Amino acid sequence: MSPLEGKRIVLGVTGGIAAYKAVEICRRLVDSGAHVVPIMTDAAQHFVGTTTLSALASEPVQTELWHNPTTPIPHTKVGQGADLIIVAPATAKCIAAYRMGYSHDLLQNTLLATRAPVIVCPAMHTEMWEHPSVVDNMEVLRRRGVHVVEPESGRLAGGDVGAGRLASPESIVAAAERVLGSGELAGVSMIVSAGGTREPIDSVRVIANRSSGKQGYAVAAEAASRGASVTLVSTVALPAPSGVEVVSVETAAEMQGAIESRAARADVIVMAAAVADFRPASVANHKLKKHDGPPQIVLEPTPDILAGLGATKPTGQVLVGFAAETDDLIANAQSKLERKHLDLIVANDVSAPSVGFAHDTNAVTLLRPDAKPVEIDLAAKRDVARVVIDTIIEIRASRANDTRTGKH
Ligand code: PMT
Repeated sequence: MSPLEGKRIVLGVTGGIAAYKAVEICRRLVDSGAHVVPIMTDAAQHFVGTTTLSALASEPVQTELWHNPTTPIPHTKVGQGADLIIVAPATAKCIAAYRMGYSHDLLQNTLLATRAPVIVCPAMHTEMWEHPSVVDNMEVLRRRGVHVVEPESGRLAGGDVGAGRLASPESIVAAAERVLGSGELAGVSMIVSAGGTREPIDSVRVIANRSSGKQGYAVAAEAASRGASVTLVSTVALPAPSGVEVVSVETAAEMQGAIESRAARADVIVMAAAVADFRPASVANHKLKKHDGPPQIVLEPTPDILAGLGATKPTGQVLVGFAAETDDLIANAQSKLERKHLDLIVANDVSAPSVGFAHDTNAVTLLRPDAKPVEIDLAAKRDVARVVIDTIIEIRASRANDTRTGKH
């Protein structure tokens, strides 16, 4: 279940061109089961119509401090009833008013009258975002415990390019999940790998596979939404899930280096990456020429990263592998579970329709050394990730219980 399910979320929209993205944020929050109460400032209504947001939110947009048809005392009622307030986009003016407690409109009153957590998602031109007054205001808000979803760099209004673009709706919703999540993984340090490794043949060609990284990114996003501190070692350039540190690698050797240098400090490692089993034994430092004829490429095994982690696993660490199989799914995955000393393996039959590589969906069986297999029918990769993270939490809880009762 999403941590947003049943939560009352006030979505404050202020006057910037990024206001159009608030529509998508609203839709995603509602899809996650949240009750969305939208507030628009006067300036926001220059960019998006109230009808659009009202149609998508859980109730009509509120804009008025006075003569508000929804409640006679909107300046306190809306904020008091909120589980979370998200301001997206937050303009420089909105940020300054919030810092000063200047309650001139319904949104600022709501921000003052709430005890709920607040997420501010700034969006403005680079010069404004970097102006010392905005920098100071943001610092004060952060110090007060306001959550900030940092703007991205990219194309801004008027064709400018730079820092200040509103974060993606996906990152903003992920931040909401993190803030409202039960925090079951708070204080837990996690490494997740994602994507397929690319092993060079010469200076331009590689041996690759079809992994898109979607399943690994979904695991990382889900773990972060439950409060884990996540490092994602990735070969692909998907947008970083909110709050997740991404380390980019290309080859199996680079992935091994990035993971092994952090492994001793990790409480949980999830290897969702499709690591090449073989790589060219020698790499030409120039482009192999067509007129020299087809090259004889001699392959050698890559390091088995997961097996190495299993052999040196510190006490208490939870080690999770994935198994991409095309036949004998359970027998092959079971053998990997045992051979690599794993606590959990997520087996997917990648020959089945809509399963595994590059799809948005997956169907898996979860195998553990000491529990019955659990099957997850075809589902969105994020839903699969949810069950994987639930299982990791269960493994950690049962270990903590064993330690308390002296079983280990
Ligand atoms: O990225 P997507 O497009 O979303 O697709 C998802 C996925 C199909 C890649 C994912 O669900 C998956 O199955 N990942 C594991 C792919 C794989 O390499 O499986 P394997 O059975 O070959 O390897 C078993 C385990 O050992 C894996 O956890 C793998 O990361 C690890 N391994 C494998 C080889 C190697 N040299 N080092 C490793 O650590």
